[in-house]
Amino acid sequence: MDLFEYQARDIFEKHGVPVLGGVVATTPQEAREGAEKLGGGTVVVKAQVKTGGRGKAGGVKLAHSPEEAEAKAAEILGMDIKGHTVHRVMIAQGAKIAEEYYFSILLDRANRNYLAMCSVEGGVEIEQLAVERPEALAKVAVDPLTGIDEAKAAEIVDAAGFADDIKGKVAATIQTLWTVFKNEDATLVEVNPLVKTSDGAIIALDGKVSLDENASEVRHPDHEALEDKAATDPLEAKAKANNLNYVKLDGEVGIIGNGAGLVMSTLDVVAYAGEKHGGVKPANFLDIGGGANAEVMANGLDVILGDEQVKAVFVNVFGGITACDEVAKGIVGALDLLGDHATKPLVVRLDGNNVDLGREILATRNHPLVTLADTMDGGADLAAAKAAAPAA
Ligand SMILES: Nc1ncnc2c1ncn2[C@@H]1O[C@H](COP(=O)(O)OP(=O)(O)OP(=O)(O)O)[C@@H](O)[C@H]1O
Ligand SMILES: [Mg+2]
Repeated sequence: MDLFEYQARDIFEKHGVPVLGGVVATTPQEAREGAEKLGGGTVVVKAQVKTGGRGKAGGVKLAHSPEEAEAKAAEILGMDIKGHTVHRVMIAQGAKIAEEYYFSILLDRANRNYLAMCSVEGGVEIEQLAVERPEALAKVAVDPLTGIDEAKAAEIVDAAGFADDIKGKVAATIQTLWTVFKNEDATLVEVNPLVKTSDGAIIALDGKVSLDENASEVRHPDHEALEDKAATDPLEAKAKANNLNYVKLDGEVGIIGNGAGLVMSTLDVVAYAGEKHGGVKPANFLDIGGGANAEVMANGLDVILGDEQVKAVFVNVFGGITACDEVAKGIVGALDLLGDHATKPLVVRLDGNNVDLGREILATRNHPLVTLADTMDGGADLAAAKAAAPAA
């Protein structure tokens, strides 16, 4: 989960990383009040969107008074930055910047390690620097077990080439940023720019933090509050509330299966079959998991049928711990519950544990929307055909 800058700022502050005051505003009026709250002096109005390059896009503007902050906020709110509409700005205390540095820690999957990157030439041109003069961006591997201790922090600031008078302070801040990374279970902590102010203080002026969602539920119940609910797809939110592994895609054939592997291959088979039927594609990934009962099946179907783009559904279940009769009961239950609202054809392929019982349940109910398929390929083809010509 990526955080907004203001959320990163709050987390930094909580862990003792030096930051400046910041207030979130959703209207120009609030922006003016925020600037007043920060003392009425110079502030920076910053677009809060989860993408980089805000400054270059005109989403970061200096304001010398609360009135000016109001005016700048009016300009920035509603702006589109790389496809992200600005709904909020942060009013940040203005810093007197002497130098801009770059620092980040990230999960380095390829090397099964963490990686720290640091440069004395930070700021909005860092991407260009990384391409044109990679030697100016120090890269230091960080062992997950020892993390960034005093020695590692010293190694990083040396590699980046910090001046002697500032080394100690930067190293201390880097160690604190490591505690943020570790204690919050982050996969990315990036500060660009990390600045030295005219009076010699080191401050994190910007923050990008990504949190590992796998750690949220158990280790960080407080992280749920950081989720941007407004931006979550409503179907994905509904699926999540029902503990379903659901990802919305852009096609017409709804997919339900059990086990991530089977669902992934079902997506492939449907996409392949869809080519023969006008290019219809899978509409989602939905894994009801092992041991799913009728209720889980019904919830899954409910989510998929709620997707307006879906024209037909392919249920592909290989019964193992999940028994086919439970799946069949779920389908029948969901269809009966939906009544006249169920209008989309369902192709069902069941195999494995209790398959005969499952098929019998569906055959007995004999619902007009349900067709049984014998094989995965056959089912995929039929579902794609029905999605391509829903009336047929
Ligand atoms: N509080 C502040 N006081 C003074 N100058 C600031 C402040 N915040 C940002 N700036 C200036 O604006 C520049 C851009 O700000 P920031 O890094 O937050 O946005 P960005 O880098 O363009 O966005 P992103 O990190 O999303 O690419 C900084 O490099 C810095 O020079
Ligand atoms: Mg930045």
